[in-house]
Formats: sequence, structure tokens, C-alpha cells
Amino acid sequence: MKAEARDLIAAMPLPAVLIRWDERIDAANSEAVALLGEGLEERHFITVLRQPVLLDAIEGTLRDGAPRKTRYLTSDGRQDTTFDVACRAVTLDRGPGVLLTFADVTQMEQAGQMRRDFVANVSHELRTPLTALLGFIETLRGPAREDAVARERFLEIMGNEAGRMERLVGDLLSLSRLEAEERVRPTEPVDLPELLRSVLSGLAPVAEEAGVALIPELPGDVLEIAGDADQLRQVVVNLVENAVKYSGRGAQVTLRLSEPAYHPRLRAEGVEIEVIDTGPGFDPLHIPRLTERFYRVDSHRSREMGGTGLGLAIVKHIVNRHRGRLRIESTPGKGSTFRVILPLRAAPPRGEDA
Ligand SMILES: Nc1ncnc2c1ncn2[C@@H]1O[C@H](COP(=O)(O)OP(=O)(O)OP(=O)(O)O)[C@@H](O)[C@H]1O
Ligand SMILES: [Mg+2]
Repeated sequence: MKAEARDLIAAMPLPAVLIRWDERIDAANSEAVALLGEGLEERHFITVLRQPVLLDAIEGTLRDGAPRKTRYLTSDGRQDTTFDVACRAVTLDRGPGVLLTFADVTQMEQAGQMRRDFVANVSHELRTPLTALLGFIETLRGPAREDAVARERFLEIMGNEAGRMERLVGDLLSLSRLEAEERVRPTEPVDLPELLRSVLSGLAPVAEEAGVALIPELPGDVLEIAGDADQLRQVVVNLVENAVKYSGRGAQVTLRLSEPAYHPRLRAEGVEIEVIDTGPGFDPLHIPRLTERFYRVDSHRSREMGGTGLGLAIVKHIVNRHRGRLRIESTPGKGSTFRVILPLRAAPPRGEDA
């Protein structure tokens, strides 16, 4: 092949392979070598690209010159990857050829899959309380029509189920708002000890009812950080509520705020908010997935307690928006610690990078 054509293939930013009329590979760029392996030139394309749909497409284009599109599935060692492959006819010096280009569409596929999973999850989460409501309406119209005691009980359950649906919709809305503004870093001054104290007093009745002791370990002085007060309150409420909810009677939940210190992970000065419980804990294998929407360690227990499974997803988004970090540790039988590290200031001092 001519040198210019080889240069053109080499200059293409996508994996590209040129196949000749004699079904051998004429040229391949370094992206193609990374994808398909070394020593491609002069090999028969069947020995390199072993996937039947792709082979059919190449043969078809070699035969009739019509462009074709197909898929190539492979694995980069860590995850499955999907390529859209375009087969285009080209005219070479001594006959027809086919130019293959590979476009990595793995992320698009994943985003599509996530969207489908999300819709399926939301529908499922809404359907459960909805089915219960419809069932009770049916019962109230029929068998329980004249039974005042049953009616009261059913109405209470219906109230709970409707409340759960309302919370779910509210949480979904705040998640989508959070996603929309995640890039905008909040800057209002927030007095953290004050905020934490007010969360604790708000949750005191809940903790008391659950038989859980709330223990504050907060500095007495004002400690201001740049943030969004409502969102930070939401973070602490979600974490403390979880600790109270899942720890059970007799447990202790400590809410601790550290003094400001340099945090290497933030490369800046920051503070740590820790929510430490003496509850049942969970297997650390759950930790990487815990902040996914609707992920629950024990889904039966969470649903029973009216949980939507969105609490930690919301926490994660808010912490991200504040350019902070969320760290989770847990030991089965001992308890869990949820640690939020927040930078003290919104903007790094001049001369440092973000
Ligand atoms: N302190 C904790 N101890 C034990 N398990 C916990 C703790 N915090 C969270 N979990 C587990 O993590 C799961 C996810 O928590 P998350 O707050 O996201 O959802 P939820 O509490 O089920 O529902 P929501 O908070 O939306 O009402 C919980 O279902 C629970 O299994
Ligand atoms: Mg929760």
C-alpha cells in the first residue's frame, strides 16, 4: 500500500484496520494493536477478529461495497467493553478493500443500562406501597366497611404507605436537584457545631423512642466552614437517623466534630464529622455499593422501617458538591462509622491548585 494511506491509518484517533481484497490485513494503527494484539499485518482477518457477526459484515462489504455497522465485544481485563464497528469500502491500488474503525461505546451502554435500571428500581419502589394502598381501599370498600376498628388500623397503614411514597418522590427530586447543581460549590458560612447541636436536638425524640443514646462530642466554639446549611443538615440527619434506626435498643450513637486540620486527601484544611454507632454493623463488602441509589444491606429491614434506600446516595452527592469525602467503616457485631471530611474554605488560597 502507498505510504500516504498508511500514514492516514496511523493518524486516525480510533482503532483502524485496513483489509485487502485477498482478505489479509494491509495496515493497522497503534490503537488497533492495543485492542487486537501485535503482528496484525498480513494476517488473515478471520484469525484476528473471531466474532461471526463482524466477519459476516467484513465479507459483505468486501463483496458488494456497501457500508455496514456492527458490534465488537471484548474485555480490557477489568471490564467488558463494547465497540461500534464501521465497515467502509475503499479502493486500493490492486482491488477493493475494507476499512474498519472501532468506536468504544461502553460508557454510553453503561449509561443506558443505568437509566433502565433506575427506572425499573423507581417503579418497583413505588409499586410496593401502591399495591398495598389499592389492597386496603378494596378491603375498606368490602369486608371492612362496617368494622370501625379495622378501618382505623387500615387507615393508619395506608397513611404510612402514602407517606413512604411521598418521601420517595421528595428524595428523588432532591437527588435530581443535587445533580443539577453539583458543579456549583456552595459558599455561605455555616457554623458546624451549632448545626450539629440542632440536628441532635431535632432527633432526640426519635432516638429516645428507639432506645438509643445520642452522645455529642462537639467543640464549644464557633467553627465556620463554607457550605450550604440545609444540605449539610441533611447529611448529618441522614447519617444519624441511619445509626439510630439500624443500631437497635441499647446502642450508642456518637456525633463527633474534629478540630480543623490539614487533610492530605483534600490537600487542604478540613474538618471531620463522624457518626459512630455501636450497632450490628455490616460486612465491609457492602461498602462500595452502599451509596448507590436503592442499595440496602438488608432490604427487608430497611423497607419495614419506611426507608427509601436513597439516604446515603443523597449524602454522597452533597459531600461531592462540597468537594468533601465520605468514608465508611464497619465491623459486624461491633458497629459502623460514617465519616464526612469537609474542606474548611470554598476556594483554596491563591497559588495552590484546587
Ligand atoms: N449505621 C448503619 N448501621 C447498619 N446499617 C446501615 C447503617 N447506615 C446504613 N446502613 C445500611 O445501608 C443501607 C442504605 O442506607 P440509606 O440511608 O441509603 O437507605 P435507607 O436508610 O434504607 O433509606 P432512607 O435513608 O432513604 O430512608 C440501609 O438500608 C442499611 O441497610
Ligand atoms: Mg437512611
